[in-house]
Amino acid sequence: MLNAIEIAPKIWWVGGLDWNERSFHGYTTERGITYNAYLIMDEKVTLIDTAKATFADEFIQRISQVVDPSKIDVVITNHVEMDHSGCLPKIHELAPNAKIYATAPAGVNEIRAHYGIEGVEGVKTGDSISIGERTLHFVATPMVHWPDNMVTWCPEEGILFSNDAFGQHFASTKRFDDENDLCEVFKQAKKYYANIVWPYGAQVQKAMGALGGLDIKLIAPSHGVIWRSHIPEILEKYQAWSTYQMEERAVVVFDSMWHSTEAMAREICDAFIREGVPAELIDVKHMHVSDIMLEMSDARYVACGSPTLNSNMMPTMAGFLTYMRGLSPNNAGRIGIAFGSYGWAPLGPKQVYAEMENAKFQMAAPVIAQQWIPSAENLSQLQETVVKAIEAARA
Ligand code: FEO
Repeated sequence: MLNAIEIAPKIWWVGGLDWNERSFHGYTTERGITYNAYLIMDEKVTLIDTAKATFADEFIQRISQVVDPSKIDVVITNHVEMDHSGCLPKIHELAPNAKIYATAPAGVNEIRAHYGIEGVEGVKTGDSISIGERTLHFVATPMVHWPDNMVTWCPEEGILFSNDAFGQHFASTKRFDDENDLCEVFKQAKKYYANIVWPYGAQVQKAMGALGGLDIKLIAPSHGVIWRSHIPEILEKYQAWSTYQMEERAVVVFDSMWHSTEAMAREICDAFIREGVPAELIDVKHMHVSDIMLEMSDARYVACGSPTLNSNMMPTMAGFLTYMRGLSPNNAGRIGIAFGSYGWAPLGPKQVYAEMENAKFQMAAPVIAQQWIPSAENLSQLQETVVKAIEAARA
């Protein structure tokens, strides 16, 4: 078992490594998950967050390598979602006199609702506590990722305990960014943002504003690696992601039965490439929706295609569009194209168009529905639609 790891003098990582977890609310976690918790050995022994309940044994063992868990005086619950609070009842049982802090009123109410624990001290932005040589300052960050979220700032150490913010679903024995494969870390940070934090850009912006000007030496999230050497880069990424900045790039997502919609998808993808816009062709059958979100989250152009199956779009495409719509209320400035084939009624492509319109894409053209097999001429006309899409983006 991995030991507790000292990440700064007298501050220990005591979390859990979930090597084989492959799903978080249906989002694929191909690199596993970590549940980071931190133990500060000060005059008041302080625990920041806990771990998923199934990790109670190894979590308590790690704490015990540093201190008897019954000696914990203070527990900071930055977020009540159960991946971080699952071991709170165990800590409450082992250290019944420990003072628990959470946001007021959301965190306090959520702890009561989940665990029946009373007497939690509610805190708000601007509140702070002294734990001895160190102070802990609280900044509420509602909806990053639940209403109760907050981050905890320790100015004496320059550590921001950021909970879900700046996290990545990434299990590793190495705790710091510069000890790991950075490409993978940033990819997982982006996938995490696209699938968990994306709907809350305005709230992220507000939180970033509240943290501006701090001399941050470490960002210690509750998932993945601790940011030590690449803090400006991850802050810059969050700035770009939370303001929905896009790249001049296209993704073409489709499903097909007898290759007609696939032929249209290939033609649209090739048309973007011919116009100098990098493009990616994605068969929704072969890529998980959470990976498609990673690819499309900062793409300026999104084309979605489905044939008609039983008077509907393909269930695969409906699943993707439903998932995407839930995550992306802000598609302002994103150009959409809806297309697809049909035999006797163009219902599939029309449904795709309606879903994209509801998701507030700027649609470049009316729905492109092709009966039976697209001819060479039909396909060549798709180039005009792509040109229109690019013109719309650059207008
Ligand atoms: Fe990592 Fe919102 O929990």
